[in-house]
Amino acid sequence: MYKISEELVALGLKRIEGFSVEGFVRGSGPLEPAVMLVGEAPGENELETGIPFTGRAGKELMESLASVGLSREDVYITSAVRSRPYKWGVKKKRNGETVERKYNRAPTKKEIIAHAPILDAEIKDIRPPLIVTLGNVGLQRLIGPQAKVTELHGVLLETPVLTWDEEAGMFKETEENYHIFPTFHPASVFYNPPVRYLKEDDWRKLGEILKMKR
Ligand code: URA
Repeated sequence: MYKISEELVALGLKRIEGFSVEGFVRGSGPLEPAVMLVGEAPGENELETGIPFTGRAGKELMESLASVGLSREDVYITSAVRSRPYKWGVKKKRNGETVERKYNRAPTKKEIIAHAPILDAEIKDIRPPLIVTLGNVGLQRLIGPQAKVTELHGVLLETPVLTWDEEAGMFKETEENYHIFPTFHPASVFYNPPVRYLKEDDWRKLGEILKMKR
């Protein structure tokens, strides 16, 4: 199992102080994974279990992994941000009463920068043979805001990735290239059901790529 250091966890917690986020969920997986999966940020479920992708999106992701002969134990699962970004909202109960509760939300650019050193370290240490980005947040964190999952999904890219340069205060490209395979976030099929067909097609292509790599 690969584990980021306590120092990096402490640094991540310090850098994200003051933002509307809570908790910290480490990335999880073996030292030599078949692929690294890069999502957005943990949600409410993940905070409870302490394990990435354990909610509804996680179940969807496990089905995709199974479709290419992989399970959670074979892959390293991480994301752009490791704390849960939340916003307050009002939930109406069946009896008409309203209660305030926290809802998951996408991480902001500043939150992504706050946790950039963590993902940078994971990629540098693990040197995954293939990085599968799940949704726009993971994709843009690694190759820049111009990248769009709707345009690049299902295409194997060979490209530098972005790492955070604290001194320069900006993201810079690595010298080495990585293999990146962008696809949709597993939760995208819940709010856009037709995406399921595109997503399943991507995973079929990914299965072919993995077969060639083995
Ligand atoms: N979405 C993510 O990006 N990561 C999780 O762990 C859960 C949902």
